[in-house]
Amino acid sequence: MTQVGTVTFPEYSEVRCLMMPYIQGDPDSIPDDYAAYRSIVESTYLTRGDVGFLTIDESPVRKGVPHRGARATFGRALHTEAGRRPTGQFGWGGSGWGSATNVFLDRDVRVLLANNLSGSCALWDVEHEDTSYDGDIGNQADLYPYEDAVLMQAGEVHRIGILTPHESLPVQADFDRQFLRIVGSGVHGREPYFTVNPLMRAA
Ligand SMILES: [Fe+2]
Repeated sequence: MTQVGTVTFPEYSEVRCLMMPYIQGDPDSIPDDYAAYRSIVESTYLTRGDVGFLTIDESPVRKGVPHRGARATFGRALHTEAGRRPTGQFGWGGSGWGSATNVFLDRDVRVLLANNLSGSCALWDVEHEDTSYDGDIGNQADLYPYEDAVLMQAGEVHRIGILTPHESLPVQADFDRQFLRIVGSGVHGREPYFTVNPLMRAA
C-alpha cells in the first residue's frame, strides 16, 4: 500500500519548479510564485519540519505520449527516482564518462507523488536495487507488467522510495497535467537547474 493521502490541485496555471528546497509542512517557506500550492504543502509531507524538495510541473501533455518521459531511452518511461553509481551510491547527474555526479541521495530518501490525471502514472510496490546509472530501467520492463502495477488515481498521494519502479504512462487524450513531487531530506548537492528558493538562501 503506497497511498498515504489525497490532495486537491489548484487551478491549472502552468506553474513549474524543480527540486526547490523548502521546509516540509511550512507554507511560509514557499515563495509567492507557488502560493497556490501552500495548502498542499501544509497538509502533505514526509517529515514535518525537515527540508524537502518540491517539484511542480503543470504543463500540457499530448495524446499518446507520457507527460514526464523525456529521459526514457526504451519503449516505456519506467525508472527509479535515483540512479546507481559504480560505487554503490545513489545519485543524479553525470554521464558516467568523466562528468561528476552533482547530487547524492541517501538510500532511505522517500518521495511523495501526485498528479491530476487518473491512470497517467503506474508504480510497483517493490524496490529495484540494481537500477541503472540514470535510473532508466525501461529495458527491464518485462519485470513490471501492468497487471501488477498500482495505477495512481487523480489526487492520490503515494509514497515511494528512490528505488521504487514507476512509469509515466502515455495519456489517452491531450490534457493539462499537474504533477507534484516532494522529495524528503537526505539529498546532498544540487544541479544548476534546480529552482532556487529565495526564502531558503540562508539554509
Ligand atoms: Fe519519477
